[in-house]
Amino acid sequence: MNPTYRYGDSSLPVSRYRRQILYLVENHATTIIVGETGSGKTTQVPQFLFEAGWAENGFCIAVTQPRRVAATTIAARVAEEMGCDLGTTVGYAVRFDNALTAGRTRIKYLTDGVLLREMLDDPLLTSYSVIIVDEAHERSLSTDMLLGLLKKVSGEGMLHVFVQRRRPDLRVIISSATLEATKLKDFFDTGTATTAAQRRVAAAAAAAAAAAAAAAATSSGGTAAPSPPRDPHRTPAVITVEGRTHPVQVHYLEHPAPDYTRAAVEAAVAIHCEDLPGDILIFLTGQEEIQAAIGLLEEHARRLAGSRGYSLKLMPLPLYAGLPGAQQQAVFRSTPRGYRKVVAATNIAETSLTLEGVVYVIDCCFVKQRCYNPLTGLESLLIAPLSKASAAQRAGRAGRMRAGHCFRLCMEADFAAKLPEVTVPEMQRSNLVGMVLQLKALGIDNVLKFEWLAPPPAEALVRALEELHALKVIDEDARLTRDVGLALAALPLEPGLGAALLASRSLGCCEEMLTLAAMMSVQHVWAPAQGAIRALEEAKAKFAAAEGDGVTLLNVHRAWRANGRSAAWAQRHFLNHHALFRADEARDQLQGLLRRHGLLPQDKPPPSCERDMEPVCRALAAGLFMNAAVFDRTEYNPLAPEGDPGTHVFRLVRYTAQRTHPIKLRIHNSSVLWRSIPSCVVYNTVQQSDNGWYEMQGVTAVQPDWLIELAPHIFHKPSHTAV
Ligand code: CDP
Ligand code: MG
Repeated sequence: MNPTYRYGDSSLPVSRYRRQILYLVENHATTIIVGETGSGKTTQVPQFLFEAGWAENGFCIAVTQPRRVAATTIAARVAEEMGCDLGTTVGYAVRFDNALTAGRTRIKYLTDGVLLREMLDDPLLTSYSVIIVDEAHERSLSTDMLLGLLKKVSGEGMLHVFVQRRRPDLRVIISSATLEATKLKDFFDTGTATTAAQRRVAAAAAAAAAAAAAAAATSSGGTAAPSPPRDPHRTPAVITVEGRTHPVQVHYLEHPAPDYTRAAVEAAVAIHCEDLPGDILIFLTGQEEIQAAIGLLEEHARRLAGSRGYSLKLMPLPLYAGLPGAQQQAVFRSTPRGYRKVVAATNIAETSLTLEGVVYVIDCCFVKQRCYNPLTGLESLLIAPLSKASAAQRAGRAGRMRAGHCFRLCMEADFAAKLPEVTVPEMQRSNLVGMVLQLKALGIDNVLKFEWLAPPPAEALVRALEELHALKVIDEDARLTRDVGLALAALPLEPGLGAALLASRSLGCCEEMLTLAAMMSVQHVWAPAQGAIRALEEAKAKFAAAEGDGVTLLNVHRAWRANGRSAAWAQRHFLNHHALFRADEARDQLQGLLRRHGLLPQDKPPPSCERDMEPVCRALAAGLFMNAAVFDRTEYNPLAPEGDPGTHVFRLVRYTAQRTHPIKLRIHNSSVLWRSIPSCVVYNTVQQSDNGWYEMQGVTAVQPDWLIELAPHIFHKPSHTAV
């Protein structure tokens, strides 16, 4: 223990680097911290900065996270370490949910998306003294965008928002679990400026910075001074924090496993039956798989509890984004005596969250990923092979306590041949509509010339511009339109859903669309109980609307309100009470934003269509018309068994005129329209099933005529339908 310091856990490896980190941050505009997962970067560094005075004079320290679960759980942990209530000195802000006290919160964990949105109001990030961009190796879309902006703001460029230039006191810390460091350093190194003028500026800045650093070093003796030098080194500093890791032995299957969820459970049970100590961590791709695995593990736990001879009891625990907060915290509690934790997690446990006590990792070697095809404009979620880099990270989770084992549920030859080396940055496999919209709102007009850490495909950028034009967000000159563009950028919604909300004002159903957009944005509204699939289906059927999933969600929210927002009622109907509350908050926030931007009158309630749901469906069609699909009668087989989705084929409306694309879509079986055959639908998201189908989720039935009425510029001019 080091008695001089009050905050933090001094047993973590990063604590040994405390003085060095503070010195570098003081003297460099950008500091890159590389360190093994679990070394304390996320939880400790903000506390070092806090104690060194970086959160004085009303400033705040921001720590960005690609995942909301990480932001909320880590904020809770740090609040506990600092002995304060969550939401006071330490708080968090994620989309539609926060725990903050204005003027009091000093360390703020937030998703990178939320910080980007804050930049719209405050491009110079004036409330922050330090921005820690955490988990940079994940290369999420928002992280890459944030890094691009911080660089712009931090130095050269053609923009008017030179944040770090106009805020020379602002410090950026980038923290990464892997060796992306060189790439990041080069990217941020303004010494590599290309023009002579830029080089002169950079050289002058570096000379001044060196002088300042020398002065600072003599005056402060290497610890941070509360008032940072205003002209720090522009060349980023890199510091590597050694973690504590033990060797991990990797094992492969001898034969391929047809069902990796079952194989994972069997492997966990086999390990358990060896009766050696240590917790087990299973990596699966999503909530459904995790729940299935937990169900199976619970059966085994019951069976094994009845048989003698094992010293430990199995304790299965899930960990994924949609889990209620209390359950998320449960995985971090130390394993009770006599038990063995088996945590089934998504790749959130890969680097964002560290679980102590894990000795065995079971890795399905797959991950749920966004992927995007700019030719079709289809963005979907896909279960894809993991990268070798990620697999190495996952294996590393087994070596935290002592030498561990990692069981990869594939054959060694397949692992070597079929897994990509690294994960493609999300920027290069995403629909960029939302990102381009935000850049435009930040005043970056030429998005094609923006400097990226990994440039997105030009087709994807062009496609995004086309879609924004179709949504009337940008005009012929690719400039943001005053009425729609700026408003849409300010709404924390997917652009299509945001456009539907804006359209609902003139269609007289804003009251309904506010709730609907909020409900569609908060995830995991349904809380399926273990093994109660039928009961869940019956509960869903009570709210099901012929119009589709949007109106069904509206019905759910109305019924919950009519029942006094009761938690017991929600539970009886297999609804996630927290999600419903979050939707309520999201609704209020969206309404407030519309009012603030003069898009709704201050003093009147938003217009409502009461029981008539047609305006709501029209509003959805007006926003989501790019996601319109028509039923393909030529594929229909009326003799097929009822609900057989193979014959219920839909085609994207944008392509049917020319039949340029053979893509087939169908309605996902979670949709209330799954068994019906609406002639035309709009959807909110698409997921790709393992047999290649594009499955639409958040589906609403619409009239084809509405599309022509609401988007004549798209559905009349054949030139716009070309790929
Ligand atoms: O960011 P990095 O991976 O370097 O480490 P960290 O997230 O700061 O974690 C440091 C330690 O805090 C680990 O031992 C975690 O297990 C622990 N921790 C925890 O017990 N509960 C949390 N909610 C978060 C972290
Ligand atoms: Mg971390």
